[in-house]
Amino acid sequence: MTPLRAPPEHPQHAAPAHVERLVRPQPIVKASALAFLRFEKADLDRAQKFWTDFGLVTVSRTGQELVMRCAGSQPAVLVARHGPRARYVGAAFVVPSDADFERLRRESGAEPLSSEQVPGGGRGVSLRDPDGNEVWLITDWGGVEPLPMRASLHPGTNSLDHTVRVNTTVRSEIEPATIGRLGHVVMQTPDFHAMSQWYMRHLGIIPTDVQYLDDGSPVLTFFRLDLGATPADHHTVVIVGGLESRYEHSAWEVLDLDALGQGQQVMRAGGHHHLWGIGRHLLGSQLFDYWKDADGFEFEHYTDGDVFTADRETHYVPFTTGSIWAWGDDAPASMFPRPSLAMLLRAWGLVRGGRLTWSRLKLLGRTMQTPARPWL
Ligand SMILES: [Fe+2]
Repeated sequence: MTPLRAPPEHPQHAAPAHVERLVRPQPIVKASALAFLRFEKADLDRAQKFWTDFGLVTVSRTGQELVMRCAGSQPAVLVARHGPRARYVGAAFVVPSDADFERLRRESGAEPLSSEQVPGGGRGVSLRDPDGNEVWLITDWGGVEPLPMRASLHPGTNSLDHTVRVNTTVRSEIEPATIGRLGHVVMQTPDFHAMSQWYMRHLGIIPTDVQYLDDGSPVLTFFRLDLGATPADHHTVVIVGGLESRYEHSAWEVLDLDALGQGQQVMRAGGHHHLWGIGRHLLGSQLFDYWKDADGFEFEHYTDGDVFTADRETHYVPFTTGSIWAWGDDAPASMFPRPSLAMLLRAWGLVRGGRLTWSRLKLLGRTMQTPARPWL
């Protein structure tokens, strides 16, 4: 019988010899937070309805622009401009006020941002990552009063060995999940090496878990912010090697498990497309629930994720389809690339352009064919 077990996780000092270490370059700047995401949307009304049911709150809305916040003190977590087609534009990160913007201009082609461009005010620069996404680094960002939230129900959770809730019931309102924070953004890229080096250099991020193919080469990495002794989310940026340059999903931290579950009811009632969940991730440990907006962009609600300080050693984990989740329904087939003529042509183009080798493609394909739950 196939053993019921999750893939091994090797700390860097004990990783198998054939596993390539992901070397961290000297960063130009260290980001302290993921600030907001930027999109273009052809239908701002439809987008606003989705994100409102998802749990975000409108700050301002014109015919051209929608700015949304969450319950936290950030002036904005999402900015959508009206455009001819729906697309992900990029992410903005908070950096320290002594960030060397002049050096970023010289060495990385950064362009200055005016304070009117940054929702909530501040100053900063705009950069382009190797795949063409816009990355804003901002500082002296404003803050707003947090919105009221109910108390978390977690401290009152009873378990076999821990009965804390007596003569009290669990009743949570059926309301959109209260989102406290923008947690992370995941990007797919045909050039894992260039993208991971660029993001480590321009955000100072630390590889938390590196997933590798059978030949030991890294293919997916969960990066966390370098906040020193302050615990940081297991991942704020994820870079996945694949055939396309694209936004994979973003994840938004909700109050607790009941917010996740009640939030699902509100989303279902709103007729939104449920993608996957509720389950628990393996790497990062979050309880998750995934949704798709009308343009096919994925948004994740999550709660109860891992946090690590900067000194925690990088871990190396084999890349398998089953390593994304610990329990819950299987990830839907639509989350994995499906062989098609278009995909073959794309792969051929990448190989011809020297951005991919046939052997790496074969290793990727083999992983995708492996059943996620061999014991089922
Ligand atoms: Fe995620």
